[in-house]
Amino acid sequence: MTDRADTPPQRRNFYGRRVGKGLRQSQRGYLEQDLAGLSIPGVEVDDNPDRARLDPAALFGRAAPLWLEVGFGGGEHMVHMAARYPAVNLIGCEPFVNGVAMLLGKIRRAGVTNLRIHPGDVRDLFDVLPDGCVEKCFLNYPDPWPKKRHHRRRFVTPEHLLPLARVLAPGAEFRIATDIPDYVRQAHEEVPGAGFDLLTEGGTPWEDWLSTRYEQKALREGRVPHYLTFRRR
Ligand SMILES: C[S@@+](CC[C@H](N)C(=O)[O-])C[C@H]1O[C@@H](n2cnc3c(N)ncnc32)[C@H](O)[C@@H]1O
Repeated sequence: MTDRADTPPQRRNFYGRRVGKGLRQSQRGYLEQDLAGLSIPGVEVDDNPDRARLDPAALFGRAAPLWLEVGFGGGEHMVHMAARYPAVNLIGCEPFVNGVAMLLGKIRRAGVTNLRIHPGDVRDLFDVLPDGCVEKCFLNYPDPWPKKRHHRRRFVTPEHLLPLARVLAPGAEFRIATDIPDYVRQAHEEVPGAGFDLLTEGGTPWEDWLSTRYEQKALREGRVPHYLTFRRR
């Protein structure tokens, strides 16, 4: 860990699910055997109350471009990216323990070693990452929070976008995939104000995209994916 963050320790409201249906025996095994070795020390407030900043290169044992996936769900996109870009260091955040267990199973099967996990809220990770250390961020099918009174819980709000902008390097790419037209509206309204320019958007995914569980569900239910690429100024 390096110098301290200027932000005080925080206890945050988290409105999503952390535990779902029962885990399979094999998934309990992945969590017991693999999670500690792949987790990032010093992210939780209890482990690092001073919020000392982490050294990402030390975490991976090598200096390499760092990419971040927020809310990786079952982890299919994370593992796909890790396998496709072995020279990149990837961090994924996901508070839903069943998703973390699914990712761990996929990591075992793919044999990738360039992934680390924060099994919790990405805002806690933002607190302890150094300025400008992340070169690409993926936000795939963020929680839609469809009710108007819940729109302030969405990721595309300053509470999330400003710390994301701080940890992204100038020129870094921020990709959003969503099937919710009103989420696209809010992204247009809020992301540029946090220090990003819109580069591309539309219905065609990125060349290296791997469709996720939520995208498959959206397609089955007749919703239309929309892909946006922003660049950190
Ligand atoms: C709709 S799911 C999409 C999952 C996956 N990206 C996909 O496309 O299948 C949104 C995910 O974001 C996670 N999430 C919500 N808030 C988060 C936060 N503050 N930090 C990290 N992940 C979060 C949720 O737990 C959930 O798994």
